[in-house]
Amino acid sequence: MRPLINLSYIFLLLTTSSAYTFSDHISPNFTASYLQFIANTGTFLFSRNNTFKAAIFNPGGQQTSFYLCVIHAASNTIIWSANRDAPISDSNTMLLTVRGIKIVDKDGNTQWSTPTLNSTVDKLVLTEMGNLVLLDQSNGSLWESFHDPTDTIVIGQKLPVGASLSSSASDSDLSAGSYKLIVTSSDAILQWYGQTYWKLSLDTKAYRNSYDVVEYMALNQTGFYLFGHDQTVPVYQVSLPLANFRIAKLDTAGQFTISSYSGSELKQDFVGLDDGCQTPLACGIAGLCTENTVSSSPLCSCPSNFHAGPVNFGGCVPSNGSYSLPFACNYSSNSGSQSSSSVVSFLKIGYVEYFANFYFDPVMYGVSLSVCQELCSTNCSCLGIFYKNSSGSCYMVENELGSIQASSGSERDVLGFIKVNVSSTTTNDDDTDDGVGTSQNGGFPVAAAVVLPIAGFVLLMALIFLMWRRLVVSRKREAQLGKLNSHASRDLDLEAFHIPGLPTRFDYEELEEATENFKTLIGSGGFGAVYKGVLPDKSVVAVKKIVNIGIQGKKDFCTEIAVIGNIHHVNLVKLKGFCAQGRHRLLVYEYMNRGSLDRNLFGSGPVLEWQERFDVALGTARGLAYLHSGCEQKIIHCDIKPENILLQDQFHAKISDFGLSKLLSPEQSGLFTTMRGTRGYLAPEWLTNSAITEKTDVYSFGMVLLELVSGRKNCYFRSRSHSMDDNSNSGGGNSSTSSTTGLVYFPLFALEMHEQRSYLELADPRLEGRVTFEDVEKLVRVALCCVHEEPALRPNMVTVVGMLEGGTTLPQPRIESLNFLRFYGRRFTEASTIEEESEFGTVMREQTRHSASMARGSPSGFSYISSQNISGPR
Ligand SMILES: *[C@@H]1O[C@H](CO)[C@@H](O)[C@H](O)[C@H]1NC(C)=O
Ligand SMILES: *[C@@H]1O[C@H](CO)[C@@H](O)[C@H](O)[C@H]1NC(C)=O
Ligand SMILES: *[C@@H]1O[C@H](CO)[C@@H](O)[C@H](O)[C@H]1NC(C)=O
Ligand SMILES: *[C@@H]1O[C@H](CO)[C@@H](O)[C@H](O)[C@H]1NC(C)=O
Ligand SMILES: *[C@@H]1O[C@H](CO)[C@@H](O)[C@H](O)[C@H]1NC(C)=O
Ligand SMILES: *[C@@H]1O[C@H](CO)[C@@H](O)[C@H](O)[C@H]1NC(C)=O
Ligand SMILES: *[C@@H]1O[C@H](CO)[C@@H](O)[C@H](O)[C@H]1NC(C)=O
Ligand SMILES: *[C@@H]1O[C@H](CO)[C@@H](O)[C@H](O)[C@H]1NC(C)=O
Ligand SMILES: *[C@@H]1O[C@H](CO)[C@@H](O)[C@H](O)[C@H]1NC(C)=O
Ligand SMILES: *[C@@H]1O[C@H](CO)[C@@H](O)[C@H](O)[C@H]1NC(C)=O
Repeated sequence: MRPLINLSYIFLLLTTSSAYTFSDHISPNFTASYLQFIANTGTFLFSRNNTFKAAIFNPGGQQTSFYLCVIHAASNTIIWSANRDAPISDSNTMLLTVRGIKIVDKDGNTQWSTPTLNSTVDKLVLTEMGNLVLLDQSNGSLWESFHDPTDTIVIGQKLPVGASLSSSASDSDLSAGSYKLIVTSSDAILQWYGQTYWKLSLDTKAYRNSYDVVEYMALNQTGFYLFGHDQTVPVYQVSLPLANFRIAKLDTAGQFTISSYSGSELKQDFVGLDDGCQTPLACGIAGLCTENTVSSSPLCSCPSNFHAGPVNFGGCVPSNGSYSLPFACNYSSNSGSQSSSSVVSFLKIGYVEYFANFYFDPVMYGVSLSVCQELCSTNCSCLGIFYKNSSGSCYMVENELGSIQASSGSERDVLGFIKVNVSSTTTNDDDTDDGVGTSQNGGFPVAAAVVLPIAGFVLLMALIFLMWRRLVVSRKREAQLGKLNSHASRDLDLEAFHIPGLPTRFDYEELEEATENFKTLIGSGGFGAVYKGVLPDKSVVAVKKIVNIGIQGKKDFCTEIAVIGNIHHVNLVKLKGFCAQGRHRLLVYEYMNRGSLDRNLFGSGPVLEWQERFDVALGTARGLAYLHSGCEQKIIHCDIKPENILLQDQFHAKISDFGLSKLLSPEQSGLFTTMRGTRGYLAPEWLTNSAITEKTDVYSFGMVLLELVSGRKNCYFRSRSHSMDDNSNSGGGNSSTSSTTGLVYFPLFALEMHEQRSYLELADPRLEGRVTFEDVEKLVRVALCCVHEEPALRPNMVTVVGMLEGGTTLPQPRIESLNFLRFYGRRFTEASTIEEESEFGTVMREQTRHSASMARGSPSGFSYISSQNISGPR
């Protein structure tokens, strides 16, 4: 080995003395070290246009750890490092030989090398994309840094299924940290010690375009994607502003970020987790993380029974010195099962949440807290449990314990317990102090303590299932049983229909109690009345009593509920639970404190400001886009209207009643004859026999947008007094506004004003000018595109979100597909003799009755349908 070093040393001296000129490739034999290229901060190779450079580099300015890196020159961003787990000193060297690249220390030991190549190296090049490539004589690629990514990918690089990115330990220590980004066949997920804490598919900014099996992850100048076989239609897509240099990186804190460089500095375009408490170590091990409403950085504290641990521990430890946090078996010296001598206990940390519970199913359902604790105390990889009291779900923390999330005020259902190792010097007598649920193994044999409840449970399940099977044979008997003994049938239902992900199941009596016997009516929609209720844990809920759906099989109902209950999006009202008992079908939703959009928009309360209206529009669009393309199975809402858009603080909009249309009719494209009160928002295809697609929702959304602009129902009766303050200054001279009284069909008015580019005429007069021409133009143009008669001409909701956000250029509405509005509008003005309280619905019925004979298939492409078909049973 010695001679080699000497040789390379001479070579080094030679090259340094003969002023090295950079080219886009180097050939064997070549040696580089930091000291040799110190004037160029270790750089020995540039890409052709100097966009990227390869260097022996010491990140963070420290002087001990040097890495062979590929660096984006302008932003000085490391996009790849070779020897991340084997840093070298400044005098160590990189050798390029015909066998590949080798990094050797001063004793000649190899610290890192490229794998064995099946041909000899002719040259090493750094491409303009940042790919370091070893080429053979015929320019064939022997090895590429793109195939062995570290924590970053760049434009042009593909991360295939099964591959992963690993975070770096810190900005100056590039060794692999504990966070991983993994591309799976259906998603991109973030994990920490096997615990998932983020999924692209659940991110609000990601849209699903296809159901292909994912093959790789990639970036380009305008977005971030997961691609399947079809390289033109991404499976998932996150649209980003145009940028020529962009990286996707798993950073040292476990955040997945996408940044771009625009000539001055790296700017973040996307952050995987915007909720600070969702990162596994937001507050260190066992730290309690509370969302900070003022800034994005969360607030940290220690849970009850814990206090801050030593500085180098970075987290919380039990306050009682007799307890210590155990290590999971992988790290403990005596790996294997828990040694029988060690005594464990559980420290109760109150109502909390844990990031991984959101992504993993509980290890057991419907068990008691003590069964859950036993399961954990006998499993050496278990470090804590989270017990959901309402459903008896038992969640386990495995391998490593992260930060705990403080549960938000109303959600007090999940109790957290951290497993502790009880010091052997402590006596086992007193184990009943507050907050400590002990599960010692002294006296009672372990086997009995665990096996008995589990075996008993399994037997009971089997028994229950058999009994249920017998019961369904005779429906009569079930009904009788339900009447005689609701308690027994309740338990049977619970076990017999066990579907993972099912929201909390309530007893009818519980909901009766919660709503004080359905005292406070807060709304009534197409599916039934909604009542305000308070659960025993003090959380406020909205309880929907479903009527008129025709009682379906309980199992079908539960299956649908499981689908709805598994849909989580910030713009969709969360389903918290349900009740399916006897003939009762109830749904329990989170309570939305500002009520529905129609009340806020059309009501006599304070006027909704433009920004609030825009936020509602965007939130609703995002929720719908998620339903259409973000879920496992596409969900068409079928009933988008202001009544189904609910608001929470700060006018945060959430869509309610989604997924319920499936309960009405199993045929997705069939006419929903029981749909009521929604005629103003129904797309023309409802009246024809055309298929109902997600574009039907787009139409309804467009109608809602128009109402947001005007602050009124799209069809209203204008009396003389109204005309004074409303549209008295409008352009006039057009058919829909010439009469001072009568029905106004606003969508037609909007079309006409769009043609005259008089957008401000359309704005709600109550805004008194607090809105710009451009703002109104934007919403009106988007709305008109959404209500195109031809469904194919309507944009999809993902595009609508892009238009509203400004990323997609505003479209030009197609007049030829909007002329049907003139037809509608004329009908309404003709019918203006109708009594004052008339609504669009009434007129519609009048019209349909008149022209029932015109029937379907009329050449205009728009046909009527008999009145009972559209209005249905009332
Ligand atoms: C590179 O160096 C090795 C010995 O270290 C020598 O055998 C080989 O011929 C050299 N190759 C070239 C292209 O100079
Ligand atoms: C390098 O830059 C030139 C001029 O700016 C450009 O025409 C060329 O396409 C670039 N080459 C690469 C490989 O990007
Ligand atoms: C190198 O190995 C790959 C895969 O093992 C093989 O397909 C390829 O033909 C080999 N190339 C040469 C030049 O031997
Ligand atoms: C390899 O690529 C270089 C530069 O692109 C070119 O000059 C050379 O002719 C190529 N060699 C072969 C064998 O194709
Ligand atoms: C624990 O050990 C198993 C097998 O020894 C290994 O597969 C797993 O990755 C380890 N878990 C952690 C978190 O290191
Ligand atoms: C980025 O990829 C998407 C999806 O393939 C494509 O639609 C888009 O045009 C690409 N952008 C650029 C700038 O090439
Ligand atoms: C700590 O825990 C041990 C064991 O449960 C108990 O005996 C002791 O009283 C506790 N000490 C304090 C200060 O609570
Ligand atoms: C529990 O604590 C005892 C004594 O403090 C120690 O010997 C044992 O290894 C610990 N067990 C675990 C699993 O950490
Ligand atoms: C501990 O629990 C985990 C999760 O339920 C399970 O995968 C593992 O097999 C259990 N280990 C033992 C030793 O029971
Ligand atoms: C758990 O739920 C039961 C009823 O399901 C209730 O009686 C009990 O008080 C609850 N326990 C806690 C700790 O909330």
